[in-house]
Amino acid sequence: MAARSSNDVAVGALDEKQAKAELKRLAADINEHDRLYYQEDRPALSDAAYDALRARNAAIEVRFPALVRPDSPSTRIGAAPAAQFEKVVHRRPMLSLNNAFADEDITDFAERVRRFLSLDEDTELAIVAEPKIDGLSASIRYEKGVLVQAATRGDGNEGEDITRNVMTLQDVPHRLNGTKIPDVLEVRGEVYMRREDFLALNKAQEAAGKPPYANPRNSAAGSLRQLDPAITASRGLRFFGYAWGEVSEPLSTTLCGARERLGAMGFTLNEPTRRCATIDEVLAHYRFLEGERTALPFDIDGVVYKVDRLDWQERLGQVTRSPRWAIAHKFAAEQAQTILRDIEIQVGRTGALTPVARLEPVTVGGVVVTNATLHNEEEIKRKDVRVGDTVIVQRAGDVIPQVVAVVAEKRPKKTKAYVFPDVCPRCGSAAVREQLESGELEKVKRCTGGLICPAQAMERLKHFVSRDAFDIEGLGEKQITAFWEEGRIARPGDIFRLAAQDGKSHPALADKEGWGAQSVAKLFAAIESRRQIGLDRLIFGLGIRHIGQANAKLLARTYGSLDALEAAMVQAQDREGEAWADLLNVDGIGVKVAGALVDFFGEARNLEVVHDLQRELTAIEAPPQAQTDSPVAGKTVVFTGALETMSRGEAKAQAEALGAKVAGSVSAKTDIVIAGPGAGSKLKKAAELGLQVYTEAEWRALIGAA
Ligand code: IVH
Repeated sequence: MAARSSNDVAVGALDEKQAKAELKRLAADINEHDRLYYQEDRPALSDAAYDALRARNAAIEVRFPALVRPDSPSTRIGAAPAAQFEKVVHRRPMLSLNNAFADEDITDFAERVRRFLSLDEDTELAIVAEPKIDGLSASIRYEKGVLVQAATRGDGNEGEDITRNVMTLQDVPHRLNGTKIPDVLEVRGEVYMRREDFLALNKAQEAAGKPPYANPRNSAAGSLRQLDPAITASRGLRFFGYAWGEVSEPLSTTLCGARERLGAMGFTLNEPTRRCATIDEVLAHYRFLEGERTALPFDIDGVVYKVDRLDWQERLGQVTRSPRWAIAHKFAAEQAQTILRDIEIQVGRTGALTPVARLEPVTVGGVVVTNATLHNEEEIKRKDVRVGDTVIVQRAGDVIPQVVAVVAEKRPKKTKAYVFPDVCPRCGSAAVREQLESGELEKVKRCTGGLICPAQAMERLKHFVSRDAFDIEGLGEKQITAFWEEGRIARPGDIFRLAAQDGKSHPALADKEGWGAQSVAKLFAAIESRRQIGLDRLIFGLGIRHIGQANAKLLARTYGSLDALEAAMVQAQDREGEAWADLLNVDGIGVKVAGALVDFFGEARNLEVVHDLQRELTAIEAPPQAQTDSPVAGKTVVFTGALETMSRGEAKAQAEALGAKVAGSVSAKTDIVIAGPGAGSKLKKAAELGLQVYTEAEWRALIGAA
């Protein structure tokens, strides 16, 4: 998280500068997760968390199209439509296909067609069975035999103009062969990439330090949607023509006849295709293609069945978005059985613990799989996955291989149910599942030791020095990375000891390449100047989960000092106690945020880091933002015992609105204690400290609310 500064800000609230920083951070983050996933086969994020990163990136790009980065993840896998292509309205909508998985679905399909057309049993219903290409469809328009426009499918009614890109495809004719060419002909089909071209492209991507594509379909999509056609041209995309849109005269009376004509005009046809007279033949072709699948030079994900006679296609028409005359018979997700050797817990940069299955290597759909995700603690429990089990592993398209189930009968004796760790395997800090507002626990377990966890520390340090936190000039991400790798800094307090340690426990910085006496002096001065820091910046800089700038300000105002915040959060460990209730009474703090705070301050090692930092600093309390002319402005008040005319929450809100700070515990810093019936230890302490103690009525009189 390079500039974590703005990552809890809603997309709608980002300003341009924040959006720019955020897009940079997201590009780096997503790149890194892509690398872990595709290159190292060890994803650090759940699918959902990964999708959320992409969605945020896309949302920001929609708001700030001018800020879209050349390395944006949106220009790669699963890209959203680029705003830069012109729109094209399809003259005939581009339909999609209904999917079928079981053989019976196909028998049903044939019966439906027969019924619709009132065909008797003896009438042959010829079906054309074609490989279903895993690419993306395009419509290419020819007028008088000349290519004039090409478009993506888009939503079926409106696509994007990709004419210049399509013209670079080797098997798309610019001029149609033959003499009897219809005046208008829109040829539809699939743009795809051969597997060998895909592998070569990924090699090149890697060599150039760019993230590889997930699969041939994504790389075809990414390559087709390049704004620069020269890039598309270099990618070796291909095209199969298998259908048509607007056409000024019929191509044939049958699909087979039309395919032949497309071939003669110069298109490559998707083969092996077979005209089948019976459903048995249809299913036999399906089995055949299923077997051939990995031997074909391109990816297919099923077989498409289409009624051969075009007059019947016409009569059958369509239901909503898909034709009645065709159906896609998909292949099952590829699965294999293997032995689970171990379960390893990976810790991502945000502290998420992800269980990964270490597998006996197994080939699934032509790819060797050695790791698979187990998602999270609950999934392991639900499936009762144990080390030593034989498991079913599945690979479907571009998703991370997953463990689908355990083969119960193959379980060896003496296996033990898997116990998900309660501590982070990297740093030993407590690992917790957050409580959501609904009261349920979040699926992901997280390490609470952000500041000390090696999996997270460098990112936390980057956050610590980021613009809205310590904002130390000359100490950016680059320097943090270098200093961290050289062992100069491991935790925030180390930053303030850099000068003192320079040339002692570390080689002198001025001797390092890229540094000189002057720049070092400047850096040390910049660090020095931050020994006094606003409390809100300090709290924000700690990088506590869910504590963005706004919450940090709120906490600074409410608790007044880091010590008070820490003390209150330690007390708030008791979820029945007052400190917890007080925390939830802070307007804007819900269960989730409160839980994150309590978890953070509940981890002893975090406290060590915080105390170490505090020894280097003086935090400046945030000035009260509420009313300043009330009699209680700037005063620290504590409510104890029962209140009679209002709830604790209301009293607190009212006091805060008048500029008072409401604290949860009595200390020498307390100005006023409001004690109601049942007040106990706090009242006693107030008496010991000789503080002013008011009844509720007296308090109300003081603030003019009586
Ligand atoms: S025919 C009106 N044939 O599958 C029917 N589509 O899931 C138009 N596809 O959008 C489609 N191979 O991108 C047809 N041999 C094939 C296909 C095929 C791949 C794609 C096409 C379509 C999608 C529907």
